[in-house]
Parts: sequence; C-alpha cells; structure tokens
Amino acid sequence: MTDKYAVIGNPIGHTKSPMIHGSFAKDTGQDIDYVAIEGSLEHFADDVHAFRKAGGLGMNVTAPFKLQAFALATERLERAELAGATNALKFEGDRIIADNFDGVGLTNDIQRNLGFALKGARMLVLGAGGAVRGALLPFLAQQPELLVLANRTESKASDLATQLGAHGRVHSCSYGDLARERFDIVINGTSASLKAELPPVPAVALRNAKLAYELAYGKGLTPFLRLAHNAGVPKLADGVGMLVEQAAEAFVWWRGVRPDTRAVIDRMTIPLV
Ligand code: ATR
Repeated sequence: MTDKYAVIGNPIGHTKSPMIHGSFAKDTGQDIDYVAIEGSLEHFADDVHAFRKAGGLGMNVTAPFKLQAFALATERLERAELAGATNALKFEGDRIIADNFDGVGLTNDIQRNLGFALKGARMLVLGAGGAVRGALLPFLAQQPELLVLANRTESKASDLATQLGAHGRVHSCSYGDLARERFDIVINGTSASLKAELPPVPAVALRNAKLAYELAYGKGLTPFLRLAHNAGVPKLADGVGMLVEQAAEAFVWWRGVRPDTRAVIDRMTIPLV
C-alpha cells in the first residue's frame, strides 16, 4: 500500500517538497505519495488530524505553522524542543512526534556540500526570528570559534544569545557594531530578502568572509548576496541545499533509508552570478 506524506503551509503553492520527496522515493524505491496541503490559518490542528486519520504517516511543516505544529505534538525531540518549533511530524497511532531538521540541513549543506568546516569558524548570523532559531543549535554542536547574532531589534538577538549560551560562545550585537569584526561565514537568516530588502549589515563585515549564505532560496542574487559579491566573498549560496538536506533527514526519519541529495540539489540550483 502506498504510504501518505504531505507538506503543510499557507501559502503553499511555491513548495518544492513534493518534487524533492518524489525524487527521493523514486531513487530509493519507496512507495510513497507526498502532497502539498494549504493549511487553514484558523483550523490548522483540524487539518493535521484529518490527514492523520486518513492514514497519513508524516508531515513537513512550513510557514506559518512551525510553532502551532510544535504545540500540537504529543512528543518533541530535543532539536525541536530547543528550537521551539518543528518542521517535521511523524504519526504513530495517537502519537504526534515532532522534530526539526532545518538546522542539521543547513549544517550538512555548509559542511558536506559546500565544503566549509564550522569547527573553529567565526560565524555571523543576521536575524533572530523563527528561521534562525531552528538553525543555531546544530551549528554550535560543530564548535565554531565564535557565533555572533546581529538583529535589527537587538533585544531579540540578545535573548537568543542568552538562551544558547550554555551550548557555545554566542554574542549578540546591533548591525552598527559589526564594522570592526571579521568573519569566515556570514548567513542571512532575516526575511529581508523575501521583500528584496537588504539587512543593514556593513560591507566591511563581509570583507574576509569565505562564504555568504542566504537562507531563502530561489530568489537569485538577493541584495545580501549582491553585497557579499561586491565585497569580494568568493562563495555565494542560497538555501536550496539546506532545503534538500532537511528533506533528506525527514525522509530518513520516516522511511529508514537515506536518499542521495546531490542530483536533486544540482537539478534545483540556479546559478547566482
Ligand atoms: P522567519 O520565520 O522568516 O525568521 P520572523 O520570525 O518574522 O520570520 O523573523 C524575521 C527576521 O528578519 C527578524 O530577525 C527581523 O528583524 P526584527 O526582529 O528586527 O524584526 C528580520 N528582518 C526582516 N526584515 C528586515 C529588514 N528589512 N532588515 C533587517 N532585518 C529584517
């Protein structure tokens, strides 16, 4: 019998998840059906329960439901607990188990696919919203020398730095404080690129960076990546690799089989410059 999975979000028309999971299933010989569901903003829980009761075995969760899905879960794995959000659910009888693969997806993309070690690196992360929260713990597990969080609303970055302090060396600051610092890897985790805006990071903070990474995907050369390119950063990446890698982690969790990500990433990658 074909096993059912889905991604739920609102809006959901842009999602690449059915294509990614469809490729994984084909390549690994798994008999699954993976669909996109536009969740109701008022009745998200009803939509999840309806899918589950119709025999669904798991769901990916995307904006704006990652916190609601977390609240709905009956069990939360540590990464979801620490992020306070989930992007993947597994259904087993009455159990709704929540995990979060965004951070491990990003870490795998940076280290395995792009070839940059996080251990000992000086990292700058822009933003302190939901996207960043999910990503930080797996970073810290790789033991960077330093992780600096810069956010427009500085208090959000300092609250997050305080929460994460037990897991590594994390500092917070305002964008204005960045002019004297040097970093190896700079990640834009703000939602500015979705509005074609540039977070007010000074170009000088990018000058020594070897990698500039945009968490958003499919937006081409965003204002942040353009700034990095003009500052001479040799490697630019968007979040397509992270998207495929987090999908692969969910696939392993659900199916017990690891799909190859390379071909899917190559197919989806749009050259940035
Ligand atoms: P997401 O789930 O995408 O992370 P979010 O939780 O609303 O969305 O967080 C958006 C992040 O992008 C925040 O860090 C926000 O900064 P504030 O906390 O100061 O609001 C940041 N952001 C959005 N637009 C921005 C812009 N134009 N310049 C700088 N930061 C921006």
